[in-house]
Parts: sequence; structure tokens; C-alpha cells
Amino acid sequence: MTQRETPTETFEFLNKPSQNALNHDIGKGRGVFISTYGCQMNVNDSERMYSLLEMSNFTPVSTPEEASLIIINSCSIREKAVHKVYSEVGTYRPLKQKKPELLIGVGGCVGQQEKDKLMKNHPLIDFVFGTDAIDELPQTIQQALGRSRGDSKIVNAQFHHREPYHVDTLVRNPGVATFVNITKGCDNFCSFCVVPFTRGREKSRPVSHVLNDIHLLTKRGVKEVTLLGQNVNSYEGDCGTDFADLLKKVAVETDLQRIRFTTSHPKDFNQKLMTVMADHTDKICEYIHLPFQSGNSRILELMNRGYSREEYLDKIKMIKETLPNVVLSSDIIVGFPGETESEFQQTIDMVEEVGYETIFAFKYSPRPNTKAAKLTEQVDEAIKTERLNRLFDRHEAMAFEMVKKYEGQTLEVLVEKVETGGLKLSGRSRQNKLVFFEGPESLLGQMVPVKIIRAMPAVFRGEIVVPS
Ligand code: 5AD
Ligand code: SF4
Repeated sequence: MTQRETPTETFEFLNKPSQNALNHDIGKGRGVFISTYGCQMNVNDSERMYSLLEMSNFTPVSTPEEASLIIINSCSIREKAVHKVYSEVGTYRPLKQKKPELLIGVGGCVGQQEKDKLMKNHPLIDFVFGTDAIDELPQTIQQALGRSRGDSKIVNAQFHHREPYHVDTLVRNPGVATFVNITKGCDNFCSFCVVPFTRGREKSRPVSHVLNDIHLLTKRGVKEVTLLGQNVNSYEGDCGTDFADLLKKVAVETDLQRIRFTTSHPKDFNQKLMTVMADHTDKICEYIHLPFQSGNSRILELMNRGYSREEYLDKIKMIKETLPNVVLSSDIIVGFPGETESEFQQTIDMVEEVGYETIFAFKYSPRPNTKAAKLTEQVDEAIKTERLNRLFDRHEAMAFEMVKKYEGQTLEVLVEKVETGGLKLSGRSRQNKLVFFEGPESLLGQMVPVKIIRAMPAVFRGEIVVPS
């Protein structure tokens, strides 16, 4: 979508971010560029930052060279992601030399976690803000702008643990498919994961706020929403509402045509949720991302995942019995401390037994503060790499075979994008497959039947079925 929309300010917010003591002209004549790393939550947060900064009259620009303000919205899930942030800051040295008034800020999970280190070791950085300080970003920038040489740098990275999670979705141009946060933070403390330290305690948004957001989004033309949280299944709304209740309300009480959610945690995934999904297949897509992380029960215990291999497989059985057409995907970690060859083999077996069409697999990366980082039996990097490659090779062969069944099938595709070259349109099927096909731009935002001609694990090619 390229067209500009009504400014974010004019929508009916229940909980507008506080703009107290803010000079709304701080952005006048200033371009802002945000560089985003990591998960969907971060992509959504960057959109929120752009919306807030537009309210202060900043102009979004598409390159760092055009910007007077550069923000790096960082990720710290694995060590590599953290390195990327540091090296990106370094690339801005020539820009800062040319334009000394250029402000550089680091937000997101690295900002939260490494605030002191960032401030001390990186003279190029002007301010750091944490994951709970996004709504205060205009004020933080105002402070950074008012700072004189020699003043200490601005750090705004406190968690607001006691405050409820009452923030409305801010999105400038939602297109036809967008995201709505339902929870933030995480209390699970999987032993490998840094998120509970970088995103703080888990909090859920009230049901009415989620529904109000969706009503506003559907009025703006949104057809599909993905409900987002680190663990959506532990959603606890007001009056005892759990995730299954929320999902049902979204299906029944909103005009959305499609609903997705991510990420699910196997320990909290239950029959009640499956029943809601099965009762609302007209709207809720039959695609579930259910990370198992490891196929071995000893490793799962060390990971503090709260389920064994057998318990996970029981959930898969329940899911497949209730939703026979379900499409499954998973996150997997290889080379967790102490993982033996035969334990890794159980991970490969799991991939084959469950039949995931998509996997997201990673080498274990020790993270600060986490229990697993303190385990002594760290696996050799070369072994991790070899296991990861073996896992991908096995999965790829299987995935090519699995997706062949779609060739010749007609899938309902929500057209999300007009492509520039070759095949003109693209969108996703209910099974979350990216489909490319030719068709007129007027189909943007429509559900169209597309016959699949060629199915590969990541993308499908098809042609529109013209009604006879
Ligand atoms: N090392 C490797 N992968 C990790 N993940 C989370 N923490 C780590 C880590 N320390 C993976 C998990 C999670 C996904 C988002 O990232 O598989 O589900
Ligand atoms: Fe990390 Fe586990 Fe929370 Fe997911 S559920 S964010 S892996 S601690």
C-alpha cells in the first residue's frame, strides 16, 4: 500500500499516550529513520515509534542519510543480533561527523539490557530508551535535543511494573493485514531466553481495548489481524477472560475476515482454545506456530519449558484431531548446553513425526542473566553448526514433499501487495503461505481464489480462478 492515510492523531483512542509537557514542534524540519531488528513485536514497536514521532511533526525518511534522528530498535534474542546493533552504530560515524546535530538513539531489547554499557562505550549514541519507554519517546528526544555538550546522556529504561498495560494500537497505514498486541512481557523464564529480562513482567490488555482497536482497524479497511504476545495462551484479561474467550469474542464481535495469533506456548495450549478454533474456521486461520524447542525431555526440563516430549506430542494429537487441516510450524534450538547426539536426533525425529511445513531453527546462544548461560557443558560451536545444517537439510527435503499437495488446489488468498515486477500481486493463504500471481491492482485487499501451480516450501505461485 502506498497511499497516505489520515494522521494517527484523529482516531478515537481510549488511551492516548501522554503528550504532557511536550513541544509538538520538536520534529519540524527533521527527518526520522528507524532501523528495526528482530521479531514481529519489534516491527510493531517501530510502527508505534513512527506514529508517535509523526504526532510531534517528524517526517519519516527512507535512508539514514536524510535523517536528523536515527533510532535503532534492537534485538537481543541471540548474540549475533546484539553485534549487529553495535556495528550499525559504527556505520553512522561519517554521518555524525558531517552533521553534528544528528541524534542517534538505541531502543528495544539491547537498549533495555545494555543501557549502561551503551552509554559508556559509545560516544555516537545520544540517548537510550527501554521497551517500556516507547510512549515517552517524544519527551526523551526533547530532552536529548535540549542537552548541552558535557551534559550526561539521556537514558530512559525503567520498567513500569506496577502500571497496567493500557495502550492502544498505533499504526499509520495498516494496509489490509496488521498486528494487535494483546500481552507484553513474559513470566515463563525459559532458561535460554533473555525476553523476561528485556521485556519485563507479563501483562495483558483488557478485552474491551483489544476489541476497540480491532473495530477502529476494520473501519480503516483491515481484513486480517494477528493477535500478538510472547505467549498468547497465558493471556489473562479482565473478569477471568482467557485467550480462548478473547479469540472467540474477536471472531464473533468484530468484522475481521481473518484472525491469526502468535506465539503459542505448548504448556498453556488447551482443548478449549482448539474448540474455539474449530467452531470459527470461517475466521480463525488453521495455522498454529507451536514452538517445541527440543525433542528430548531431559533438555526440555533443563530449558524450563514446562512440558515433556510426550506431553507435547499429546497436544499435537489433540490439535490434529480437532482441526484435521491444521498447518503447523515450530521454533527449534540446537546445541543447548549438554545436548548429546542422540538427544539432538530426537529433535529431528520430532520434526518428521509432527510434520511441520515450516521451521525456524537456531543455534543456542548464551544470553546474559539466563540460567542456561551458566551451565558448564556448552556445546562446541562447530557441532551446533553441523546439527543446524543437518536439521535444515532434513526438513527441506520433507517440506518440498509436504507442500506438493497444494499444487492443483485452490486457496483463498488475501491480496496484500502489488509487486513491482513480474507476477503482480501477492498475499497469504489461510495456511500462511505467501502466494504470487498475476491480477489487476483493483484486487488489493480482496480475498481471491488462486489455483496453485507451483508450491515450494517458502512461496507458492498460482493463477486466479475465474468463476465460470
Ligand atoms: N539461543 C538461540 N535461540 C533462542 N531463542 C530464544 N532464545 C534463544 C537463545 N538464547 C529462539 C527460541 C524462540 C525464538 C523466538 O528464538 O526458539 O522461540
Ligand atoms: Fe522466551 Fe520462553 Fe517467554 Fe518465549 S515463553 S519469550 S522463549 S521465556
